[in-house]
Amino acid sequence: MKLWGGRFETGPSEVFERFSNSLHFDRRLLAADVRGSQAFARSLTRAGVLTDAECATLCAAFDAIQADAAQDEYFHGADDEDIHSFVIHKLKERVGALADKIHTGRSRNEQVSLDTRLWLREECDRTRELVRSLMSALLDLADKYPDAVIPGYTHLRRAQPVLWPHYLLAYFEMLARDFERLGDARRRVNVMPLGSGALAGSGFPHDREAIARDLGFASITANSMDVSADRDFALDYLYAASMTMIHLSRLAEDWILYSSEEFAWMELGDGVTSGSSLMPQKKNPDSLELIRGKSGRVIGALNSLLFTMKGLPMTYNRDMQEDKEPLFEAADQVNGCLEMARVVAESVVLRPDVPFAAAEQSWVVATDLAEALARNGTAFHQAHQIVGRLVLESVRNGKKPGDWTAESLAVFAPEITADVARLVDPREGMKTREIQGGTGPGVVAAALATARRRLAELA
Ligand code: ARG
Repeated sequence: MKLWGGRFETGPSEVFERFSNSLHFDRRLLAADVRGSQAFARSLTRAGVLTDAECATLCAAFDAIQADAAQDEYFHGADDEDIHSFVIHKLKERVGALADKIHTGRSRNEQVSLDTRLWLREECDRTRELVRSLMSALLDLADKYPDAVIPGYTHLRRAQPVLWPHYLLAYFEMLARDFERLGDARRRVNVMPLGSGALAGSGFPHDREAIARDLGFASITANSMDVSADRDFALDYLYAASMTMIHLSRLAEDWILYSSEEFAWMELGDGVTSGSSLMPQKKNPDSLELIRGKSGRVIGALNSLLFTMKGLPMTYNRDMQEDKEPLFEAADQVNGCLEMARVVAESVVLRPDVPFAAAEQSWVVATDLAEALARNGTAFHQAHQIVGRLVLESVRNGKKPGDWTAESLAVFAPEITADVARLVDPREGMKTREIQGGTGPGVVAAALATARRRLAELA
């Protein structure tokens, strides 16, 4: 069914219909369309356009449509332009001429904004809940190995020793920001656009605040032209989803490396890995690779809509129908990846001896030594030189930090007194980093406890 036609002498070409119809993807907005239309019917009733009885008939018919839509066959053979036309078509089948009144003064431009907001508001909540679960899983994984020491990396070269929980808390922070960003996106989604008409505002006396209350929106939009032209709220979600995916992708990359034979720090569960059809020994980190791979799709969705919106003249343009597939795609992917990442995190078994040995066998303690010399009065640049020479000497002779004794170090450089020499043990150096945000064991334990509290208080 068409919501227009009077002005046309012939119908649309079959090619154009096939080209422009969106029902096959925007049918996902059916529940939102029904809910929004019921609220609109109530508003029309308050405005004196519908009687109470008409409103009740329409609302009951909408409920029935929603129930019918649970069956896939309901959509079979439908040739309606979009979900909004489809729902009105079904309404007409149920209530006849009364259906012609539901769209009084309403435009699909405001309707599509409303429906997308209703749908996306729930999706924001879903994504946030999944972020929260992953944050919780990371804290559990930290608690399993509270004292494990790993080499921290810069440039993928061993840099300084850090505690395993400190490393995981870095991801906790990233996800905490994602949670916040998704909350921000939700706040901008949660604004009620109905009453804007096509672009100029409705010609009927709607109580827009009442519609907002009816649908649980925090406020109403302030400018009808902005409503027709705006997809910022969708982009806000896509950006938040993209940032989340960047974090998941980096975590995935870390764990693909750390679970490799070369690192061998951790074992991923059988349940999240795959074998090879040819090589019997293989246990591949496919779950993590897919998370890393799918991040491209979500970032692509963000870019797709950014490019669609760039340069569109005021206000609504049909280009904007291209918002939905990227939005749906991004939401599905980010939610799926968050869930997968949680299950992977739950499956991780760390082999703490391996990263500890990696720390011990390298010169990750060099900074600890140089800083200790500086605390004892050697200018830092001089201290850096002394330890640099110590490392060079050791590398030449195949010596590890642990091969040096207090005595041999004092011979190498008299500045290296016994209190400095004990820092060849990576666990010792970490104790000098009891600074807020640092990897000192005391502050990390406190940060873990704080993180638990923050997680419980996330809103
Ligand atoms: N299916 C359209 C979309 O998603 C609905 C709005 C149609 N408005 C219009 N003026 N053609 O954008």
